[in-house]
Amino acid sequence: MTQDELKALVGQAALKYVVPGEIVGVGTGSTVNKFIEALASMKGRVPGAVSSSNASTERLQALGIRVFDAAEVGELAVYIDGADEIDGRGYMVKGGGAALTREKIVAAQSRRFVCIADDSKRVEVLGRFPLPVEVIPMATQRIARQFQALGGTARVRLKDGVPLVTDNGQHILDVTGLQIREPLAFESEVNQWPGVVTVGVFAHQKAAVCLLATARGVQTLEF
Ligand code: A5P
Repeated sequence: MTQDELKALVGQAALKYVVPGEIVGVGTGSTVNKFIEALASMKGRVPGAVSSSNASTERLQALGIRVFDAAEVGELAVYIDGADEIDGRGYMVKGGGAALTREKIVAAQSRRFVCIADDSKRVEVLGRFPLPVEVIPMATQRIARQFQALGGTARVRLKDGVPLVTDNGQHILDVTGLQIREPLAFESEVNQWPGVVTVGVFAHQKAAVCLLATARGVQTLEF
């Protein structure tokens, strides 16, 4: 099976976690794009979605799925999103698509995080994938030095040769060389560095369930 087929498999499998009659939280990325396509088949049975990025909003709306503002609705039953890495406890690294801040907001607003991923994302220790961190640009150099003190190397993410600008008007640092063995403590620490908007470790907003696509089918991990 190709990686695209694996993503389609979990995108489809996630439909069974969507609660009829309830607004669904929708993440960002190529795996979620498969889920959005599948969600179109449930259009009449859900009022709509809260989206975590402009990119997902466009896709949802193009398929006729209503998008609600997170600030207009209460708690969501479920949030469905991909991950760049997930460990055996449901802790994740996210933000490869630069949407981590809104993803964390919608995840925090949801009772249950259902992660959809292919088995290449499953790791023992978080840190193999460069850790995305959304930062206020004026703090970039100092935050990079703070990561250096932890053994990491931080680089500003570029797009077309200039710093990528997120949906929130900020920049992304990608940090390599970290081994994140205590995700809860790490997330808490980095989050309080001045100028950090959001760190891409999702430990406080970890997955409750992970639908992992493998060559043998979808594996369901519960945490
Ligand atoms: C977006 O900012 C990320 O958090 C995505 O959830 C993550 O990068 C997974 O994306 P793919 O499904 O494209 O691998």
